Amino acid sequence: KNIVILISGGGSNMAAIVRAAEREDWERKLGVRVAAVLSNRADAGGLAFAQARGIATQVLDHKGFDSREDFDAELARRVDAYAPDLVVLAGFMRILSPGFVDHYAGRLLNIHPSLLPAFPGLQTHRRALAAGCKFAGVTVHQVTSELDVGPIVEQAVVPVMPGDTADTLAARVLTQEHVIYPRAVRGFFQRAAVCQAVLTTSA
Ligand code: GRF
Repeated sequence: KNIVILISGGGSNMAAIVRAAEREDWERKLGVRVAAVLSNRADAGGLAFAQARGIATQVLDHKGFDSREDFDAELARRVDAYAPDLVVLAGFMRILSPGFVDHYAGRLLNIHPSLLPAFPGLQTHRRALAAGCKFAGVTVHQVTSELDVGPIVEQAVVPVMPGDTADTLAARVLTQEHVIYPRAVRGFFQRAAVCQAVLTTSA
């Protein structure tokens, strides 16, 4: 089974998933591998990490397209070339059109650095601090065509500390992102395996 990961930047969540897949031997235990990492930015730091691990990488710059739909159609064409069972958005900073989201319905995950449904959108840490939150966190959710709203898969909570800035809070949240995103991806395939076993025994 194939995972395709989409990134735009440092790719630390992507790296956490790749490391978990190696450490826990997903290939042998679950028959799952990270087949490719695609970025909409050529300068995404995560590309070098993926290449060094022997993972296929591609860059598709959205600036070369007239419309979001055109970009998304080409992106889907390239993603589909890897026959993905799961597409993972890991710091992919593009809003995806409904056509793209529908195409991957039920096999598209995103990570959002807040405790959804609080603080969808950008600047989540700054907004959590401004609201006086005592706790912040991160959510892995299924992607639907409404931004940051799909069914919640995993969450982790961190305390807000006195003197926190958006940066210190973001760093604390990020350590938990690296824990729950690999867990969510592994859980996706474990659930799929259980469903398959039930179908096989009841057939
Ligand atoms: C993460 O905080 C993610 O939740 C947010 O963008 C950041 C990406 O970090 N949407 P990285 O590229 O995975 O290091």
